[in-house]
Amino acid sequence: MTVTVIGIDGGPLPDGAEEALRSAKLVVGARRHLRAHAPADARTLELGSLDSALGALSSLTAEENGVVLASGDPGFFGMLRVLREKGIRCSVLAATSSVQRLMARVGRPWDDVSVVSAHGRDLTPAINVCRARSAVVVLTAPGAGPAQLGSGLTGWRRTMIVGEDLGGANETVTTLAPAEAAERTWREPNIVLCLSDPDGVPARGWRAGGEPVPPAGWALHEDEFAHRNGMITKAEVRAVAVSKLAPRPGTLVWDVGAGSGSIAVECARLGAATIAVESDEAQVVRLVTNAAGHGVDVRVEEGAAPKALRELPKPDSVFVGGGGSEVVTACAHVGASRVVVALAALDRVTSTRAALSSAGYEVEGVQLSANRLAELPGGLSRLEAANPVMLISGVRKEGKS
Ligand SMILES: C[S@@+](CC[C@H](N)C(=O)[O-])C[C@H]1O[C@@H](n2cnc3c(N)ncnc32)[C@H](O)[C@@H]1O
Repeated sequence: MTVTVIGIDGGPLPDGAEEALRSAKLVVGARRHLRAHAPADARTLELGSLDSALGALSSLTAEENGVVLASGDPGFFGMLRVLREKGIRCSVLAATSSVQRLMARVGRPWDDVSVVSAHGRDLTPAINVCRARSAVVVLTAPGAGPAQLGSGLTGWRRTMIVGEDLGGANETVTTLAPAEAAERTWREPNIVLCLSDPDGVPARGWRAGGEPVPPAGWALHEDEFAHRNGMITKAEVRAVAVSKLAPRPGTLVWDVGAGSGSIAVECARLGAATIAVESDEAQVVRLVTNAAGHGVDVRVEEGAAPKALRELPKPDSVFVGGGGSEVVTACAHVGASRVVVALAALDRVTSTRAALSSAGYEVEGVQLSANRLAELPGGLSRLEAANPVMLISGVRKEGKS
């Protein structure tokens, strides 16, 4: 049995495709691809049920040939993976990927662009990657398309470029704001390029998909942030807090009572989308400066929690750096997987613990007091104590939402 996977991009079929189709006993593909390319005498199977298509391909005898028609480059988020998973060895005749085609239409290099797929999965991680990174292509699916993406990106400074039916008779490329995309209906198939700066020229890189996550080093020294008179979560405490927040690409972290925004910046550097909530205008300025200085995108919500939290998208993790028990209680009920609260006042430990625990979290706490090495005259060393901090953290128990 020989199975040939033929990529289709709207242009002429790749070399060797006609021959493979002529000798095919069975041709598998989406309806539109079968209509356009399957020979009249071949048995065809529409790709609705993947299992029956894979079963039929596996049942071909040694002398029989099969063809799979797939969009773009079948090796890129395409059919090749499932075929290989089933143990079906294939020869591949690739066409141009929809991503390559869209980027060519836009006339922008794409070695820095992250590509994420919402195919057969929750769209939220893809939205969070678009919130966090400056250039992302989303492979969409019906119900997880440009409208849903646009609605998730409202509140972030982004431009969306939607490519519909690329290479097809109805090819359209539309540039618009997320709020506009959210209001429209879109033709299938489509993909979306999401940019923070549509006119920006990306710096020359060395790695496909943009700068690496994680970055070189984290739990940065306080000197790397603008802050007011040492009012910043110290590096040692930040290291533990960030580890408990578990920021990573695809997640959203809130930093509530963000101050200098050092927690939000650290989480953004680790690839998470971030929202910093801060009521003090001067702190907001520092926060914006710190995010820009570290080259990350932190969405800043100027306002007082808990009111300022009401319209925000649901986070995966929340850090509470300030705000009092009302804020802790509100944060405990937003449905995040993890909540971390930093407290200077011991009197608030019990109520914080109770708030997290009654909201369905497994709670733990630790007091952190770092003593840094400092110099004494004569080349001697001493310890310099930083104020102790209590970190109370909650991880949501299985089954609670
Ligand atoms: C399962 S992925 C396959 C990607 C494919 N292997 C490629 O290289 O383009 C499907 C994604 O490609 C998009 N897509 C496929 N053909 C397209 C086209 N002609 N125009 C726009 N998007 C297309 C679909 O909407 C979806 O987002």
